[in-house]
Amino acid sequence: MASVLIIFGSTGGNTELVCDEVSQILSETKHKVTVQRAEKSIPSDIKKYNYCILAGSTYGQGLLQEDINKFIKQCSPNDFLKRKFAIIGLGDNKYNTEYVIESAKILEKTVTENGGILISPTLRINKTPVVYIETTIKTWAENLSKQLK
Ligand SMILES: Cc1cc2nc3c(=O)[nH]c(=O)nc-3n(C[C@H](O)[C@H](O)[C@H](O)COP(=O)(O)O)c2cc1C
Repeated sequence: MASVLIIFGSTGGNTELVCDEVSQILSETKHKVTVQRAEKSIPSDIKKYNYCILAGSTYGQGLLQEDINKFIKQCSPNDFLKRKFAIIGLGDNKYNTEYVIESAKILEKTVTENGGILISPTLRINKTPVVYIETTIKTWAENLSKQLK
């Protein structure tokens, strides 16, 4: 059983929904999961858990959602170094065809450039996540669960 912290930034609730679904599946597969809003998180939370999932949506032509953006800006390289992460990114190509789900790329870059380890392919959700709950999201969480020790 692993301990997992999910930190998310969500303006309209879509990312929160995805994180809750992922949390449920990881919990069902016997992991200990905590889901936290980015605005209620502090960088030192990361090291209290075996794994951290960072999740956020995309706004403003390819920018990271503001709460998770503020959170990662508060972090220092040491908060990422050698720690294990997975990323969830949301977006919608109707808002911007050039910067689709840019949040995923920004979060991946933040982790890897600071020496963190990505333990799974990133979960990318284009448009409403509701239709992906039983498919893409479930499969991703089940696969992730198998990686956790
Ligand atoms: C004003 C606005 C700007 C957006 N800009 C982008 C964007 O540049 N790229 C993208 O992929 N999605 C963009 N989106 C789509 C959101 O990322 C998407 O709706 C996401 O599911 C919202 O997640 P949340 O409810 O967790 O905040 C934008 C949405 C809004 C309302």
